[in-house]
Amino acid sequence: MEYKYTNDKKSLAKHDVHIIGVFSDKKLNHVESVISRESLVEIKRIIKTCNFTGKVGDHRTIDDFQTKKQIVLFGLGEKKKYGPLLIKKTLTQIIKKIIQTNISSVLISIDNLLSTDANEVTLEMIITSIENSKYVYRYKDEKDQLKIKNITLMSKKKISTNDFKQILKISLAISNGISLAKELGNTPPNVCTPTFLANSIKKLKSKYRALKIKVIDEPEMKRLGMGAFLSVSKGSKQPGKIVVIEHMPLKSKEPIVIVGKGITFDTGGISLKPSPNMDEMKYDMSGAGSVIGVMRACAEMNLKKNVVGIITSAENMPGSQASRPGDVVETMSGIKVEILNTDAEGRLVLCDAITYAKKFKPKYLIDIATLTGACLVGLGKYPSGLFANNQDLANKIKASGDKTGDRVWQLPLYDDYFDELKTNFADIQNIGGRYGGAITAAAFLAKFTEDMKWAHLDVAGTAWEVGPNKGSTGRPVDLLIDFIRSN
Ligand code: BES
Ligand code: MN
Ligand code: ZN
Repeated sequence: MEYKYTNDKKSLAKHDVHIIGVFSDKKLNHVESVISRESLVEIKRIIKTCNFTGKVGDHRTIDDFQTKKQIVLFGLGEKKKYGPLLIKKTLTQIIKKIIQTNISSVLISIDNLLSTDANEVTLEMIITSIENSKYVYRYKDEKDQLKIKNITLMSKKKISTNDFKQILKISLAISNGISLAKELGNTPPNVCTPTFLANSIKKLKSKYRALKIKVIDEPEMKRLGMGAFLSVSKGSKQPGKIVVIEHMPLKSKEPIVIVGKGITFDTGGISLKPSPNMDEMKYDMSGAGSVIGVMRACAEMNLKKNVVGIITSAENMPGSQASRPGDVVETMSGIKVEILNTDAEGRLVLCDAITYAKKFKPKYLIDIATLTGACLVGLGKYPSGLFANNQDLANKIKASGDKTGDRVWQLPLYDDYFDELKTNFADIQNIGGRYGGAITAAAFLAKFTEDMKWAHLDVAGTAWEVGPNKGSTGRPVDLLIDFIRSN
């Protein structure tokens, strides 16, 4: 599929459909100069007599007598609520509909879609949203039969061919990163094992030669003293893997390090989870998936920033060698941990990866994890939970979340929460008390971050959707790429 950019209204006649977004104020001045007077009259009639509301989800198809083509109106909702989140939502709805037809060429008027206020909607976001709408998980070995062949974006604004090429390149890199994260998340857990994740990273490396990768296997983890990680992976036949991906185009600059939880299936271990919806625990590697997606995007857009991605991947199973509640293990940092619940395994695989990350002297360290059901209970499915030991870093992440519509909400890390991790049998225990589980989990991780500027994103509620659109969301790839590009 090809993208074009034009200011020429003659291109109208060359496309099957012309897509026009309309706010609930139903103003049409943005398209007055690009469509014929006859068509405008017809659109106004539809708005009036057929009660087109401009609300999100409302859309109409109109015959354009002038060009013998069709116009599709779609609602953008209230102007004051418009922003990155809504453009993703509305454009996705309309593109998904079009994909199901035989339409092969689409023209989109983008002047009213672009905005320059606080919640800026950019050309890049528009292209990324369109690309993301095309994603489907293919469980049959069918070739992609996409009917859309070209999408032209039409605006009054002049953009040079070269500038457009650059915007397109970046937008495609971002959406390919998001798609990769989705694909890894959706892949069934009997296929997507720690070894499978490591192999996907090796594939990335063969495509993007500048990436440097290192696979740490279990014997090496033993040498490094990663007792917490190994206490999780030893319950499974699948060997655990930690994989380090380096994208370091700049000499002597400290990297941003992102660490992703990669539990390819979380049964809970000996502290076995209840059966209902346990299949969703295939998504427990989504943090790692997002890290791989981000690294792919950085490589593809040739980003001039130093970034290191680390995935910490194991399968949490109740095998005969599995850890027991009450076991005490020594982490790479030297901190001894009493495992009181084997289902709190994410923090165990993460803490050793965080200690390992220290050797890169990170400018910022961010971990991404489907860490706690409590986060989902507390915040619901819209924002990811944000925690940090540095408020400036937290603010930067929040800003990227707002800018991309990939929202986060910060929770506190008061000293009191750390007290809940005290035990008589080791330095700390791996669970807190009954309440505030998302925060005590974050407090556990904070114990390992020492003097690094660190933030933690709990994506338990945001990494996948349930219901009819069940599937991986690719979050928070969008946020992370924006954060890396802006810092
Ligand atoms: N992967 C889960 C967290 C999770 C659960 C994410 C449900 C999304 C939906 C994590 O490993 C886990 O099991 N956490 C426990 C921690 C508890 C034992 C302290 C939880 O949240 O129940
Ligand atoms: Mn668990
Ligand atoms: Zn888990």
